[in-house]
Amino acid sequence: MSEADQADALFTLLRERRSVRAFKDEPLPRELLEKVLDAAVLAPSASNKQPWRFFVMEDRAKLRALAAEVRAEKERIGAHIPADFAPSFLAYGDYFTRFENAPVVLAPAARPLTVLSNLVSEALDQTTRTTIARMEEESGLIGTSLAIGNLLLCAHALGLGASAMTGPMIARAAVTKAFGVPDGWSVVALVALGYPAEVPDRTERKDAKSVTRYVK
Ligand SMILES: Cc1cc2nc3c(=O)[nH]c(=O)nc-3n(C[C@H](O)[C@H](O)[C@H](O)COP(=O)(O)O)c2cc1C
Repeated sequence: MSEADQADALFTLLRERRSVRAFKDEPLPRELLEKVLDAAVLAPSASNKQPWRFFVMEDRAKLRALAAEVRAEKERIGAHIPADFAPSFLAYGDYFTRFENAPVVLAPAARPLTVLSNLVSEALDQTTRTTIARMEEESGLIGTSLAIGNLLLCAHALGLGASAMTGPMIARAAVTKAFGVPDGWSVVALVALGYPAEVPDRTERKDAKSVTRYVK
């Protein structure tokens, strides 16, 4: 395949991928799950530290129980939202539990990079150390997010449906416990995965020109 054809094929995948939130009641073959994870770990990461772990849940009862905890948290939060906004919050919050009926849900977790922060002495001013800690934390998050991007695109290329969801993270403690995530790792989102039952319409994007600023 020529480079131009490769780029066209990639653009087609990028353009046609959708966030799938409804899944057929069919199990996901293990080899397809492994394939999307193979794509995930090809992502670039700061210092190639590969700051990710992927926790996998296939137990429907546990997923339903987790969705119930997310829903309860959503309702608790909703009680603190002005009445005028409550209906729109509840409609928005409905998207926090769309992982519930997926045959497989992943919890990609990140950990911060600890390169520079381990090297600098206490004599370095606190502001700079905080800046370094932030850079290192974000490096872990970005690497894991790039891995999720690979995973979503690969799922689409394989004819699967997937969606990344940060909404469930309003119930972070419940998510961490349900997936058995050890200390030091932080779940960044849930990813629902399976055969699509519904493929949503294309969502609008601002064109690249309108979000690009050339610095003079
Ligand atoms: C960081 C992130 C968090 C998201 N959280 C949710 C979510 O909690 N629930 C949900 O249904 N979709 C979620 N989505 C999917 C977005 O709604 C979706 O990507 C966006 O509307 C564009 O649609 P598309 O992915 O089909 O192009 C999330 C996507 C991203 C990247």
